[in-house]
Amino acid sequence: MENLDPNKLPKHIAIIMDGNGRWAQEQGQDRLFGHYEGVISVRKVVEAATEIGIQYLTLYAFSTENWDRPEPEVNGLMSLFVDTIAKEVPDLHKNNIQLHFIGNLALLPEDAQKALEAGMQQTAQNTGLNLIIALSYSSRWELTEAAKKIALQVQSGQLTIDKINEATLSKNLTTSDFPDPELMIRTSGEYRISNFLLYQLAYAELYFTNTLWPDFRKKDLVEALLDYQSRERRFGKTTQQIKSH
Ligand code: IPE
Ligand code: IPE
Ligand code: MG
Repeated sequence: MENLDPNKLPKHIAIIMDGNGRWAQEQGQDRLFGHYEGVISVRKVVEAATEIGIQYLTLYAFSTENWDRPEPEVNGLMSLFVDTIAKEVPDLHKNNIQLHFIGNLALLPEDAQKALEAGMQQTAQNTGLNLIIALSYSSRWELTEAAKKIALQVQSGQLTIDKINEATLSKNLTTSDFPDPELMIRTSGEYRISNFLLYQLAYAELYFTNTLWPDFRKKDLVEALLDYQSRERRFGKTTQQIKSH
């Protein structure tokens, strides 16, 4: 951690927490056991992000497509969300963490919706790490919703078509309150985005690791950050332009 340059930290890290099922199966356990262990990794990574001074951390916990998993796994995950939120919110609050949820939350069972609502309300005034959990989230769903919202604003006369720009789109996404992630991490050796923050990741540095999510710890986060700090972010410009800046 001493090797990290405090002046070159990303403000926002997004993580696709993948590999819980395989981790469990490797030890002859049920997939749900992997999800339970994954919660420990979430706790460790949230602690590490706070300690390092990251301002925004988005965690992909459940995708729109994950609703199509076998019912016992989906139900198990839903109870795990409710229990985890209830259990963790007091500590998050103590650590000045503000909790947010993005996704099609209306699809969640009522007790889960209540737990999320309570967690957000309780931590709403906090000023430390913004912890954003993507639940029942997919980027295509979010972009479709944004298109509908913008169309409604045009229809009602609040907005004219010539005023629509990139900022209009950003403002109508579920992430409108957060800057775009500079670093996206995916665990478990899969090299794909799986419908996560497609618009927001336009210029993110992508980092892939074979580590399965239940094994992911602070040292893995630090490794990803060191890798991030070694990259040259050019945003379409040339190296020379970047260096002379
Ligand atoms: C990620 O782990 C957690 C969720 C998608 C809910 P997986 O459950 O996808 O684990 P693998 O990829 O099958 O190993
Ligand atoms: C992505 O993982 C979603 C989450 C981590 C919540 P998946 O395991 O669902 O993704 P695919 O199916 O391998 O693309
Ligand atoms: Mg997976």
